[in-house]
Amino acid sequence: MRRTLIAGNWKMNGSLAANDVLLAGLKQGVGDDLVDVAVCVPAPYLAQCAAALQGTSIRLGAQDVSTSVSGAYTGEVSGAMLQDFGCRYVIVGHSERRSYHGETSAVVARKALAALAAGLTPIVCVGETLDERDAERTAAVVGAQLDAVLDAVAATDLAKLVIAYEPVWAIGTGKTATPQMAQAVHAVLRARLAARDAEAASQVQILYGGSMKPDNAADLLAMADIDGGLIGGAALKAADFNAIIAAARQ
Ligand code: 13P
Repeated sequence: MRRTLIAGNWKMNGSLAANDVLLAGLKQGVGDDLVDVAVCVPAPYLAQCAAALQGTSIRLGAQDVSTSVSGAYTGEVSGAMLQDFGCRYVIVGHSERRSYHGETSAVVARKALAALAAGLTPIVCVGETLDERDAERTAAVVGAQLDAVLDAVAATDLAKLVIAYEPVWAIGTGKTATPQMAQAVHAVLRARLAARDAEAASQVQILYGGSMKPDNAADLLAMADIDGGLIGGAALKAADFNAIIAAARQ
């Protein structure tokens, strides 16, 4: 049985003061182990968040990782550095990095490998644009994005992945995929995994991301292949994030 994972992606938001308030609120929302909960925070705040979350069940994650191990890569952050700060997860291939930073699926695959090599769980994001959906290319687009990672990862590591389906048109727009639309894509992704390794496919958590909120979370999370959420805007308000976690417990 797959556990549900509710992960916040804070993106480039926060401050020392605001994070303290948010983390204090999140700590009030957890309290049992029914749902996996994580926050993926900006790199400069990893130390603050690691300290604040110590002794809680909330897991720490980062939003990006270098393809390289160390060296002359100005501005990059390595997997070992994230590991040093107690990260368990790192998001790779978010559509904002693909579109604003030119990350190709080949780069995303290398980032997933770098994460695994550092003992981190990569949260591999895939998703189609509105044009691609309208052209009925969703399955082909997300399938190719996923295959690039599956081709690179060792068979023994497939079960260590987390996948996030994030339709680009639903991110930060208030437009959510319907539970049925999301489920259909999640099923495509799981079938793609199963074509490599049925056992791994049954274990991998596939998250939905894109305007997941307290009022739509329960319906999305009720779908057979939706194993959690990757939450942007609603992860910045403790009351909203906690309400999504509560919906996941149902
Ligand atoms: P929103 O929840 O703000 O739409 O963001 C989703 C997202 O991009 C999470 O990675």
